[in-house]
Amino acid sequence: MKIIIPGGTGQVGSLLADFFYKSGHEVVVLSRQGGHPLQYEPWQIATWDAATLGDWATHLEGSDVVINLAGRSVNCRYNAANRQAIMESRVNSTRVIGEAIAQAAHPPRLWLQASTAAIYAHRYDAPNDELTGILGGDEPNVPDTWRFSIDVAKAWEKTLDEAVTPHTRKVKLRSAMVMSPDAGGVFDVLLGLVRRGLGGWAGNGRQYVSWIHYQDFLHSIQWLIEHEQLEGAINITAPNPLPNAQFMSDLRKAWGASFGLSATEWILEIGTFFMHTETELVLKSRRVIPTRLLQSGFTFQFPTWPTAARDLCQQWRERRKAIE
Ligand SMILES: NC(=O)c1ccc[n+]([C@@H]2O[C@H](COP(=O)([O-])OP(=O)(O)OC[C@H]3O[C@@H](n4cnc5c(N)ncnc54)[C@H](OP(=O)(O)O)[C@@H]3O)[C@@H](O)[C@H]2O)c1
Repeated sequence: MKIIIPGGTGQVGSLLADFFYKSGHEVVVLSRQGGHPLQYEPWQIATWDAATLGDWATHLEGSDVVINLAGRSVNCRYNAANRQAIMESRVNSTRVIGEAIAQAAHPPRLWLQASTAAIYAHRYDAPNDELTGILGGDEPNVPDTWRFSIDVAKAWEKTLDEAVTPHTRKVKLRSAMVMSPDAGGVFDVLLGLVRRGLGGWAGNGRQYVSWIHYQDFLHSIQWLIEHEQLEGAINITAPNPLPNAQFMSDLRKAWGASFGLSATEWILEIGTFFMHTETELVLKSRRVIPTRLLQSGFTFQFPTWPTAARDLCQQWRERRKAIE
């Protein structure tokens, strides 16, 4: 297969490009900094601007799958400039990919479009799935930053819906946090807290964490490619989300840490300010389950967090040893 990955230079894109390249497929990543002569990845990296049609669109001609991941990272303070960049980078890149597919003589048969499990409402009472889940935005008493993330997710998905690509199946990837042992990824950050004795619960610890082991993430993407009946919104998340306090306790156990200092909401406000990020990423209850994947017969290698956390800790240690 020929697989095109716009925005494929980041955490998730690098995992996907490596996975599909090593499985024998042709991979082309579209990057705003493509074509660097010192590029070390073995797959092709082509240049685009993520906003307007250009020569890059020829890569989609005759391709099989497009996986669009482009977007300014949400791991930042939601000030006016960052909000604009977060929103525009997602909407514009999605729109222009739709235009490129629409004008292709031989369009890809599948367009997998990044979205987020954060599109669902902040809730504790019941899990959100694709069939009965409640989309967020109308919860009372939630901070404006939480509403912003939901506005972005809805605008992102609406742009995909509006694209007229009759020969191309479209899937919205409502992904939870992808846990991988790579440096700088979300697991690395959480494990860093545990290693420094700061891995207690956040806020009141009741908020749910939705997560997915990266191997299940990669296999679920492959599954979506292979199963042509699957289209529309698909939750890409392990079937057992759990409260933050339990999530952190399991991670401490997996690492072998006996103690972890917890952080109240106001400590988190100060901490996230200095880390240039937002408390929403840890305090919003993300209770999301993958009903459509399960109904289609997908099986998770890591359905529960304690097993996934042990495996990720082991992989993290092996990588660290290989570097030292
Ligand atoms: N990581 C997760 O656990 C997770 C969970 C749910 C959803 N998602 C979503 O999945 C996508 C990929 O996640 P990721 O963690 O791999 O993200 P990432 O590491 O931040 O990478 C995203 C890529 O988007 C491109 N980009 C950055 N700023 C941009 C801008 N202003 N305009 C256009 N492109 C820009 C960058 O590529 P170039 O600089 O090379 O152009 C970057 O490599 C994101 O949209 C994210 O919101 C991620």
